[in-house]
Amino acid sequence: MKESDYITIEKALKKGPGEVGLRGWVYRERKSNKFVFLNLRDESDIIQCVISNKNTPELFKKAQQLTIESSIKIIGVLKEDSRAPSGYELSVTDLEIVQIAEPFPITKDVSTEFLLDNRHLWLRSRKLNAVMKIRHTITGAIHEFFRKNGYYEFDAPIFQPSMSEGGSTLFEVKYFKDQSVYLSQSWQLYAEAGVFSLGKIYNMAPTFRAEKSKTSRHLSEFWMAEMEATWMKLDGVTEVAKDEIRFILKKVIKNNKKQLEILKRDINLLKGYAKAKYPTIKYAEALEILNTKYEMKVPWGKDLRTIEEAKIADHFKVPVVITHYPTEIMGFYKPASPENPKEALCFDMLAPEGYCEIIGGSERSLSLEDMTRRLENEGEDPKTYDWYFDLRRYGSVPHSGYGLGVERVVSWICGLDNIKDAIPFPRTMLRKTP
Ligand code: 4AD
Ligand code: MG
Repeated sequence: MKESDYITIEKALKKGPGEVGLRGWVYRERKSNKFVFLNLRDESDIIQCVISNKNTPELFKKAQQLTIESSIKIIGVLKEDSRAPSGYELSVTDLEIVQIAEPFPITKDVSTEFLLDNRHLWLRSRKLNAVMKIRHTITGAIHEFFRKNGYYEFDAPIFQPSMSEGGSTLFEVKYFKDQSVYLSQSWQLYAEAGVFSLGKIYNMAPTFRAEKSKTSRHLSEFWMAEMEATWMKLDGVTEVAKDEIRFILKKVIKNNKKQLEILKRDINLLKGYAKAKYPTIKYAEALEILNTKYEMKVPWGKDLRTIEEAKIADHFKVPVVITHYPTEIMGFYKPASPENPKEALCFDMLAPEGYCEIIGGSERSLSLEDMTRRLENEGEDPKTYDWYFDLRRYGSVPHSGYGLGVERVVSWICGLDNIKDAIPFPRTMLRKTP
């Protein structure tokens, strides 16, 4: 059989009974003196194959050598079989061994850390295969959403001379000859330059934060999908964020039913999220809910912690937007509201089921004076931001934007316990390998 005549398991199952050639890896094997049963895995699915000693004694002998994750090519006849999980079984008529695998290190009862140490092999698992396919849908949907809505893709440098999201989480790296530079914490400041040329822009790129937290929601390297638009205010930008999330959910529901099933994710719950209206409330209202319904005593002026965010999201049972956080605890570029300067024109979107913050954004400050003061308060040198301040000197207009944490969204949609499974090779404070 020519290489091009082999098809995927998924295609074979669609095609139905008859002869077919498949290529892949031994996912499971069971040997008796009459049969060898193989579960063959490829990128698309898993199928049960059987090799009979009576009908094909030479193949039966060859199959005796097969170990877990050995790579093989087989030709066989697909037959309906109600006992097989896929509803089909393949009786093998030809078997070519490509490589006999050494004893596979990943066995049944291994720890989460062991799986992370062997991530390069664990990527073959049904779980990660399903997550990565959903991630693919999500990143594709993000590009599609913005491009359909007239946004240009615009790239920023990863090496940046200053912080945008607080000095404490900056990664400093050596640059040429006694110089240093920081890895991007956000695309935003550069987007604010691009947006005065292109009007509506977006991007999805690696983002770095030296997070000292060991939570199930923080990575030190993650992907952020950001947007920025001129003439847009807080009420407009929050609606774009809601539309983007619903768009992503619809794409996953449409394209990834099988993967959601593998992950045991309740698809009806996701369908509900995809259709729902998401409320927008102010920080002050969030405190009211926390302090009355949950008897939590959070004082005005404190940022919301994960447990508090979780309660708010639990209260609404759908993604919720919280606006008007206290100005003084927010980044230097988030402007004070003209009506009440103690409140900033900013927002977070929280996902339900304990996933919490998935998006953060704001209007952008137009006041050089206010930004200078706040940078100084944070111990930054405003001179480093002179290029950024030029954007306020030459035809500044109102503009807004936000950033979506890709892995946060993947985690939530897949129903993962830990954000580390939302990215192929996670990087955290405690993990930089493989
Ligand atoms: O809320 P953040 O810090 O917002 C910004 O960086 C803005 N400059 C974005 C903008 O307005 N263009 O980060 C945005 C999102 C968060 O809501 C969260 O989903 C994700 O990025 N995020 C992380 N995801 C994983 N690990 C981390 N350490 C993350 N830090 C932020
Ligand atoms: Mg945030």
